[in-house]
Amino acid sequence: MRAVVYRGPRDLVVADVDVRPLGPGDVRVAVDSAGVCGTDVRIFKGEHSGFANGTGRVPGHEVVGRVSEVGPGAAPPGLAVGDVVFVAPNIGCGVCAQCRRGNENLCPTTEAIGISLDGGFAQSVLVPARAVARGNLIPLGAVSSDAGVLIEPLACVLRGQDKVDVHEGDTVLVAGAGPVGLLHVALARTRGAALVICSEPSAVRREAAQRAGAAVVVDPTAADPYESVAAATGGLGADVVITAAPVHALQSAALHLAATGGRVLYFGGLPRSRPTVELDTNLIHYKELLVAGTTASTLDDCRRAAELVGGGRLELDWMVSDRYALEDFAAAVGRAQDPAALKVVVKPSLSRKAL
Ligand SMILES: NC(=O)c1ccc[n+]([C@@H]2O[C@H](COP(=O)([O-])OP(=O)(O)OC[C@H]3O[C@@H](n4cnc5c(N)ncnc54)[C@H](O)[C@@H]3O)[C@@H](O)[C@H]2O)c1
Ligand SMILES: [Zn+2]
Ligand SMILES: [Zn+2]
Repeated sequence: MRAVVYRGPRDLVVADVDVRPLGPGDVRVAVDSAGVCGTDVRIFKGEHSGFANGTGRVPGHEVVGRVSEVGPGAAPPGLAVGDVVFVAPNIGCGVCAQCRRGNENLCPTTEAIGISLDGGFAQSVLVPARAVARGNLIPLGAVSSDAGVLIEPLACVLRGQDKVDVHEGDTVLVAGAGPVGLLHVALARTRGAALVICSEPSAVRREAAQRAGAAVVVDPTAADPYESVAAATGGLGADVVITAAPVHALQSAALHLAATGGRVLYFGGLPRSRPTVELDTNLIHYKELLVAGTTASTLDDCRRAAELVGGGRLELDWMVSDRYALEDFAAAVGRAQDPAALKVVVKPSLSRKAL
């Protein structure tokens, strides 16, 4: 089959790879769509610690497809060939202290499809028996594949908003309106936030943030976000501030932008090469702020995200702006870094664009 293979920094090639035989309990999923996210861009650039030179691994961890084959022996309960499924990527060990609490995203030996195992930028992906047995294949029913690929990032966003308890009546500032920031805006509205403000330098993405439900959008390069937030909140600041961009200054500013008694979610990490910022911790102290972070998602987050999308509570299809053939993967990675794009997906069924 055709697949995107990582050979080294900026050396992701589309190649023929062997289709591995299935063992008992394994399931093969024919990929319909796989989302390109910032992690894939980092893998492409050779900046991901999980992808050493020459691994030959296939990335792609935001996957929707159809069950195309099940391993020998009894079929996994609740799954049949032809079913449309979302592939929850993280597979915890199941026995460590974090896994026992349901935090398999924090498992020290967690594996992930598209990170430590071959992923979805391929015609098919092999989901190992241990993941199938834990329920990592989530049946989707009538959900479109465009909305389906957003379930994985939505699961991360849901985990983040749970952590800072975004709830009815909150004023929420989302800083950054990439695919992740847009999901934060949409989810905050669904959770009953009274006012969502979004700051974002890209005009296309500010417009998208309005469509996602932001009543106020701010260009941080043209106006002082602090003044804009003060104007929109009667000088109080935002009950919840979410950083959805890997920007140092934003992390320091977040504490200023939060209201007294507010909650701050550091959702976007910083580059490993420069992970520190200066924070005025007196703001945390005197304003009694709650400062939190989350990383990735659990199976439960994925299930709940799939329910939100499947139940029609969130309309996400429009957030997919570009679809590429597997053979055009390099162009897809380029487009995913363009602030004029929203979510970029790869669809193995598409044929290469005529150049
Ligand atoms: N915690 C998690 O589980 C999790 C999961 C997925 C992604 N992330 C992180 O979330 C962040 C956003 O992801 P994405 O895919 O949307 O990235 P992205 O790069 O597509 O979007 C970031 C956006 O922030 C904007 N931006 C830049 N500087 C800004 C500023 N000063 N103020 C406001 N906006 C600014 C950019 O124009 C861009 O549109 C990334 O840092 C990513 O690593 C975290
Ligand atoms: Zn991702
Ligand atoms: Zn574990």
